[in-house]
Amino acid sequence: MRKKIVAGNWKMNNTIDEGLQLTSEIASMVVDEVANDAIVVLAPPYIHLTKVKQLIGTTKNMYLSAQNCNEQASGAYTGEISVPMLVSVGAEYVILGHSERREYFNENNKQLAAKVDACLANGLTPIFCCGESLETREGGDFIAFVCQQIKESLFHLSKEDFSKIVIAYEPIWAIGTGMTASSDQAQEMHAALRGYIAEQYGNDIADNTSILYGGSCKPDNAAELFACSDVDGGLIGGASLKSRDFVDIVKSF
Ligand code: 13P
Repeated sequence: MRKKIVAGNWKMNNTIDEGLQLTSEIASMVVDEVANDAIVVLAPPYIHLTKVKQLIGTTKNMYLSAQNCNEQASGAYTGEISVPMLVSVGAEYVILGHSERREYFNENNKQLAAKVDACLANGLTPIFCCGESLETREGGDFIAFVCQQIKESLFHLSKEDFSKIVIAYEPIWAIGTGMTASSDQAQEMHAALRGYIAEQYGNDIADNTSILYGGSCKPDNAAELFACSDVDGGLIGGASLKSRDFVDIVKSF
């Protein structure tokens, strides 16, 4: 059975005090209110990781993620953070290839393949983001475009390694715009990705790969999106900054 996951990508938001307040609120609501078996992942900025981890503690089903990593293990890369460093502060996941990283920091599929390898070599689970721009969607070849992202960054992996990957489909036109993909649009892409993974790795692995949806996912649309047979949860931006909204999304399965 593939895992249901809701991950909160805080992006470049929250001071340390704000981030710890948000974490405490989420952790206590998760304990008090969440009855399903969803995995909750918080992805704060790097400098918050250690303290957020302390607050999460051993809260059932709560995990810590970074928003990025460098593919090198160590060395003269001023300002960068390596995978062993993330592991050393207790991170379990890392978001890779977010469209904002691709757009503003020129990350490409080949570099992301190296980041994926670094994570897997150190036991960190990549949440690998993919997704098309509005222009690509309107051009009609959006499924092929997103499949190509997966192929170039992930299909070099062995079956064993691929089975550790979480995928997040985030159409760029839906991120932060309030214009969410319809459940039909999300299901269409998720089913296509699962089919493409099945062609490469077989049905067993494809069936067990969690594919999350991201892009203006909110409490009022999460249930409809999560009800799609190939949508296994969400990668949440704006709504992950409000504890009530985020936990309501977690409760939407
Ligand atoms: P929003 O939920 O703010 O649209 O952001 C989605 C996202 O980019 C999560 O990684």
